[in-house]
Amino acid sequence: MSGTPASRPRVAVSRADLPGDAVARLAERYDVTVWAGTAPPVPAELADLAHGCDALLAVGNDRIGGEFLDAAGPRLRVVALASMGYDSVDVAAAGERGVVVTHTPDVLADTTADVAMALILMARRRLVAGMDAMRRGEWGSAAVNEFFGLDVHGATLGLIGYGQIARALARRAAGFGMRVQHHHPRRKEDDVLSRWVPFDELLSTSDVVSIHTPLTPETSGMIGREELARMKPTATLVNTARGGIVDEDALLAALRRGELHSAGLDVMTDEPRTDPADPLFAEPRLVVLPHVGSATGATRAAMTDLAARNIEAVLGGEAAPTPLPGTQDRPGH
Ligand code: DGY
Repeated sequence: MSGTPASRPRVAVSRADLPGDAVARLAERYDVTVWAGTAPPVPAELADLAHGCDALLAVGNDRIGGEFLDAAGPRLRVVALASMGYDSVDVAAAGERGVVVTHTPDVLADTTADVAMALILMARRRLVAGMDAMRRGEWGSAAVNEFFGLDVHGATLGLIGYGQIARALARRAAGFGMRVQHHHPRRKEDDVLSRWVPFDELLSTSDVVSIHTPLTPETSGMIGREELARMKPTATLVNTARGGIVDEDALLAALRRGELHSAGLDVMTDEPRTDPADPLFAEPRLVVLPHVGSATGATRAAMTDLAARNIEAVLGGEAAPTPLPGTQDRPGH
C-alpha cells in the first residue's frame, strides 16, 4: 500500500537579510518561504506571505494583529519575533486565536545597553556637535566654552524600568563612576547596583534619565511636558526603548527653552524617519540614532536563532522557550 508522504510544516520568514544560519537550519526541516521584496512587506504582503503557513519568523516592525492572523489562516501556530519589544503585536488577538507569539529577551541586553551608554556620553559631552563643527571646518573658530559638556562620572543615572537592559546599563554606569537609581512600579527592591526610588524623585534627582520600559497603553507618552519640567535643567534624557514613550514635541520645546541640557534617542515615533528636514535632526542638543540598539551582526544572529528555536519547539509539540505571556498553542494543534 502506498501512502502520500506527509507534507512538511510551512514556515514564512519576513526578511531576507537576517544574519546567522538559523533560517538555513529551518529550511532543512521545513518548507521555508523568505520574503523576496526589496522593501519590508506591507501588511497585505505579510499576510500573503504567511497565508497557509504553520509559523512566521517576523521582526519587531511587522504588525501582528487580528486582521493579519485571520488572513494568515488557521494553520498558523506560532509567530516568532526576532525582537524583544512586542508593541507591534496584539497579544489578546493572538491569545484568542491560539497562536503562540514569542520574542527574544536576554540576547540583546548588553548590546542595547552599549548604545544607551554611548548616547549618555554623546549627548552629555556634546560629542556629535563637536564632530559636526569639525566637518564644517570650525575647529578653532569657536569660543573656548562652545563645546563644554557636562561630566558623566559622578552624575546620577535614573533608570525608568529595571529589566535586563536597564541592569546591563547600570553595570556600565558603575564603571563610569555614576550613581544609579531606578524606578519600577511593582518591583520596589534595591540591589547592589541601584536603589529603588519613587518616579517623581527619580525625575527630580537624576542627572541622566534613561528609559527601559516597554511601550504599553500605560507608558505611552509617560515622559511629557510635566515630567520634563520636573527634571533638572542640567539633565539628559535617553531613550533606547520605544518612541511613543516620550512626547517628542514636548522634548524639543524643553531643549529649545533650555529646560533640559540634552537628549539621546535611538527610538522615535513613526519609524523610520526619513525626512532630512525632520525637526528632531536639527536640534543641536539632541542626538538621534536610527534604532540601532541591538544592531550588531552577532546579536541580530542570536535573536534570529532564538526566534527559530521558538518555532522548532512549537512545531515539535514542545513549550516555546520565550513566549509572550497570554499566548499559547491551541489544544489539538
Ligand atoms: C527590540 O528587540 O525590541 C529592538 O528594539 C529591535 O526591535
